[in-house]
Amino acid sequence: MTFPRPARRVLVAAASLTALLAAAACGGGGSSTPAGSSAPGVDFSKQGDTELWTGKDTSGNLKNVVAAFNAQHPAGKVIIHELPDNADQQRAQMIQNTQIKNPKMGILSTDVVWTSEFAAKGILVPLPADQFPTDGFLKPTVDSATYFNKVYAYPQSSDGGLLYYRKDLLDKYSLQPPTTFDEMKADCTKIKAGENNPKLECFAGQYNKYEGLTVNFAEAVNGAGGVIVGDDGKPNVNTPEAIKGLSTLADWFKDGTIPKGAITWQEEQGRIAFQAGNLIFHRNWGYVYNLAAKTDGSSKIVGKYAVAPLPGIAGPGVSSLGGHNQGIATNAENKGTAADFIKYFCSEEVMKANVIATSSSATREGIYSDPAVIKKFPYMPIQLKSIETAKPRPKAVEYGDVTLAIQDAAYGALQGQTQPDAAMASLQTKLQTLIK
Ligand code: GLC
Repeated sequence: MTFPRPARRVLVAAASLTALLAAAACGGGGSSTPAGSSAPGVDFSKQGDTELWTGKDTSGNLKNVVAAFNAQHPAGKVIIHELPDNADQQRAQMIQNTQIKNPKMGILSTDVVWTSEFAAKGILVPLPADQFPTDGFLKPTVDSATYFNKVYAYPQSSDGGLLYYRKDLLDKYSLQPPTTFDEMKADCTKIKAGENNPKLECFAGQYNKYEGLTVNFAEAVNGAGGVIVGDDGKPNVNTPEAIKGLSTLADWFKDGTIPKGAITWQEEQGRIAFQAGNLIFHRNWGYVYNLAAKTDGSSKIVGKYAVAPLPGIAGPGVSSLGGHNQGIATNAENKGTAADFIKYFCSEEVMKANVIATSSSATREGIYSDPAVIKKFPYMPIQLKSIETAKPRPKAVEYGDVTLAIQDAAYGALQGQTQPDAAMASLQTKLQTLIK
């Protein structure tokens, strides 16, 4: 999606511009919009039907939550507008419908990586702070929804990467869950030699050319001790650590530790392979836990898997912070209904029930230690730690260009078309023009 040239700047620059414009609009007299308040003049009371724009609901429970809300909210109904499961396509459709000022697009379930971008570009309106308190939410989730002291979306669900593994196989060969990639590969060699099952593959995450690749690339780089953007806010990928992260994945594709077909996999393809019993190790998000436990015949590994923290390349693994926030579209006609739904969905009670039904990752901290949640999902403490120690992906107004540059660089190297060091040198140059 291309936006006018002046929008191509880092958040800081865009925000200073916004601040300047706000001050000018107030006559420059110093009484600009106070931090934490919503956009002046926005009507958050208008009721009526409104659409919830969201990625494909793999959990199957969203329709139940929406139906329960609608049953108790006669002033306006929420209608699910389901988008593809590919994150980049969801983003593109939300941007396009902002450009045509679609009044029906009410609630946007935005990926954590777009919330700032959507705030900077005026796609979302800031939420009224008095109606959307953020206490009780995990700090990284609130940070992901905050743009220059204003909360633009309410944290709906978080995500931290997990290593799913075949506990039955690890137990059979007296192995502990690996903490490094080297250990993981050694475990695979042992298990594959013993199992003699040609369909059984070692490991896979998400490597198709889309947002999931950015997630997995970032985890490889961070897990090798590198960074994409340093503490000084500057890109720094042309380093031995970042190159090591990428070349480890590229080598694993080359030697078959990652199956060749995984170059087209998103979350769902990996989940299906793991559930079919064809993967020993699998990197994915929390939602897989519940689906892989289903006894309707869709999973061949019921009772045979467990989760562990992500392994790293040069030490412990580092997850990329994932998740979604619910915001209100600037052009939404019925913002009152949208606001009521967001409050409902993100309430402690509804969120907890949804976590129990789906193994999604809560944004409210208390839910992780709730006895009913732990009883069904004993791995929740590992999930919480993954989120708390996760690294956010780069924040940029032109996030779409940033993630595309990362995907181009990583994809070429994983396909064996470019060398990891050349890929990182050219990515560094690109990122320097996008993130200043
Ligand atoms: C999950 C995460 C999201 C991430 C996406 C990548 O939906 O919650 O943050 O961008 O996966 O595929």
